[in-house]
Amino acid sequence: MGLRFRFNLALTAIFVIGIAASAYLSYGLLQDNARDEVVRNAELMISAARAIRTYTVKQVRPKLQHHLQRGFLPQTVPAYAATETLALLPAEYKDFVYKEATLNPTNPRDRASDWEADLIREFKRNGKLKTLSGVRQTPRGKSLYIASPMRITNPACLSCHSTPEKAPLTLLARYGNSNGFGWKLNEIIGAQVVSVPMTVAEAKARRAFATFMVSLLAVFLVLYIVLNVMLDRMVLKPIVRMSKAAEAISVGDFEVPEFASGRKDEIGRLATSFNRMRRSLEQALGMIDK
Ligand code: HEC
Repeated sequence: MGLRFRFNLALTAIFVIGIAASAYLSYGLLQDNARDEVVRNAELMISAARAIRTYTVKQVRPKLQHHLQRGFLPQTVPAYAATETLALLPAEYKDFVYKEATLNPTNPRDRASDWEADLIREFKRNGKLKTLSGVRQTPRGKSLYIASPMRITNPACLSCHSTPEKAPLTLLARYGNSNGFGWKLNEIIGAQVVSVPMTVAEAKARRAFATFMVSLLAVFLVLYIVLNVMLDRMVLKPIVRMSKAAEAISVGDFEVPEFASGRKDEIGRLATSFNRMRRSLEQALGMIDK
């Protein structure tokens, strides 16, 4: 077994163990990170929805209030503005679905599904809860959700959501008088829910994992090549040359040239000693010959 073979065998063993260990450790970590990132984006989306609602209440509705007598403009409704705006997010967020899930909604598209209704009941049970998040199984794979409660804190909301008698006639004409009423001040009536397929986080994690492993492999490969070239040039070649010279000298052939001993390292010192030994041997043999 040559030096190079043993050296490479050790290096390969370290590479294989190192790569397996980093793959094992990094995979879970990268998955957690990707999931955290998706949750952060979802939280940002809920905050953006709140901002859009506030903007609609403070800046859009007052300007269009007078129009309510002539025809109902859903664009003045905060829930409508937030839902419609967030549905327009660019392609990279197309998997993030925002919904103002409500137990008794004005617009049927906002009706809470079974699992959303469970979240709303949980928020009602524990009034201090600010968010709920988790993963659930769906027919199309796992889905990540994050939810935040919606509480009626502004009495102005009740002009449309308390009784049909108080609501604008144009609202009743558009939405009917059976849904979205009977809400009370300080009641939790629904939840803002963002759901994202888990595959989004998983794909992110896979991409990060692939980049990490490829760069690790590249570093190992460069190390492998550089160490082999150095081993060859600095150790193996000089030693082979020296052993050939020693063989020639051992059979009395002093024609082989001396080693250039410019190097200051161990091999350089070996070359110097070798040259000195060879000269002594030559002299000794010369004396015997006389
Ligand atoms: C001018 C009447 C009006 C006012 C005032 C109003 N809403 Fe609404 N709200 C509506 C209508 C109409 C819808 C349905 C919009 C749609 O088509 O998506 C709605 C929808 C909602 C929804 C989504 C669930 C559902 O019922 O479809 C929530 C939540 C909601 N409103 C909360 C509020 C809150 C909180 C306030 C006070 C800040 C408020 N609304 C003020 C008319 C109003």
